[in-house]
Amino acid sequence: MTYYIDPAESLKGSVSISGAKNAALPIIAASLLCDGGTTLENIPKLSDVRNMISLIRALGAEAELGDAGELSINTENIRESTVPYETAGLFRGSFLVMGSLLAKLGKVKIPLPGGCRIGARPIDLHLKGFAAMGAKIKQNGEYIEAKCPALTGAKIYLDFPSVGATENIIIAGCLAEGTTIIENAATEPEITDLIGFLNAAGAKITQDNRAVTIKGVKSLKRVSYGIIPDRIEAGTYLTAAALTRGEVTVKNVIPDHLKPVTAKLSDIGVDVAVKRTTVSVKCAEKKLCRTDIKTLPFPGFPTDMQALFASLLSVTDGTSIITETIFENRFLHVPQLVRMGAKIKTDGRTAVIEGTKYLKGARVNAPDLRAGAALVVAALGAKGTTEITNANLIERGYENFVAKLTALGAKIEVGEDSSAIETAPEIEK
Ligand code: UD1
Repeated sequence: MTYYIDPAESLKGSVSISGAKNAALPIIAASLLCDGGTTLENIPKLSDVRNMISLIRALGAEAELGDAGELSINTENIRESTVPYETAGLFRGSFLVMGSLLAKLGKVKIPLPGGCRIGARPIDLHLKGFAAMGAKIKQNGEYIEAKCPALTGAKIYLDFPSVGATENIIIAGCLAEGTTIIENAATEPEITDLIGFLNAAGAKITQDNRAVTIKGVKSLKRVSYGIIPDRIEAGTYLTAAALTRGEVTVKNVIPDHLKPVTAKLSDIGVDVAVKRTTVSVKCAEKKLCRTDIKTLPFPGFPTDMQALFASLLSVTDGTSIITETIFENRFLHVPQLVRMGAKIKTDGRTAVIEGTKYLKGARVNAPDLRAGAALVVAALGAKGTTEITNANLIERGYENFVAKLTALGAKIEVGEDSSAIETAPEIEK
């Protein structure tokens, strides 16, 4: 899919934010533990979510996604412990069913996440957790196989507060015998939402700073649960508003989840107004100023917003420095932004951005989901038309992206990619 984007006037209006993809994926995986039916609300209709639904269907679940984002899941017939390679290879979130299958069926055979497309990405922390809980784990070709008739609670220290490992271990710990304690756990809002879902289903989980304590229970019951709004989707529209010096309100958000982003927007001169479920931004000053950003685990600045801020800081006054501490190689958007006239130099995990007056439309390629969204945001404020190929990657993370942006005043046409597009491997999510 190719986006053709013409410069927009300043974006104006309000936009309702969808359910969070990164909360929906672990919660759908965790729903395999609930006896009988589960109903989830506010599920975003995105390809990764549809892939997760296909995956749990392949394991024996019945799952139906309604038009309003309500997902009913029935897990009575889950018998299959082998995760199909084709579906699992489509998205990294597939690895989140490892904990559920191990807890529910006592065994699992699951492809390494992401397959060969994204190269080796460690899952050592997930496996360290399962092994501490008594699982016997081996790698067989491109599959991980694990067995444990009854998981037992354990104390697990994560070297790094990995989001996926924390989620997988929490899910596995719910039905384990005894208490599991995860130290140095991730504290992202999506983790808290997963815990909220599991506790509503009868789990006994508490969070205290970076420690998560899971007291094992015998079973989880049928539950209805609504997914939190997507803080990265909201942050994307706020950044687009700032870059086009517009005035936009994001509705149906949890403002506290957006704090690391809204704090940076305030720092550079954007007016931010927060109400109970909305955040509004306005650029009274046309001139925004520089800042420095370091990505960190929550409540630090989210790595998923890093590329979007690279676009914004490319057209603010002064020189900004972005340091990426979460992923080793997450500057794939930089060469694309440079094609649009951005003045950015990278050295390892640091990008130095010299603000320029405006970017220029160019032919660019979306290298991954958030980097692709960053190119869209850059294009909205650029002079001339920008052509973004591989845009289907962007729609993995944004429900009704083009329609929502168009309603705010963006000018985007959607076409097909020509066959000669060179696609970079995706690093995220
Ligand atoms: C999740 C999000 C992603 C976000 C990321 C960090 C989903 C589906 N994706 O990804 O959008 O960018 O959190 O906020 O929720 N690591 C290890 N060993 C492990 C696991 C991770 O070394 O076993 C490393 C990774 O290589 C990476 C860092 O830890 O450098 C963070 O990864 P992690 O927090 O696990 O991210 P994901 O759960 O993959």
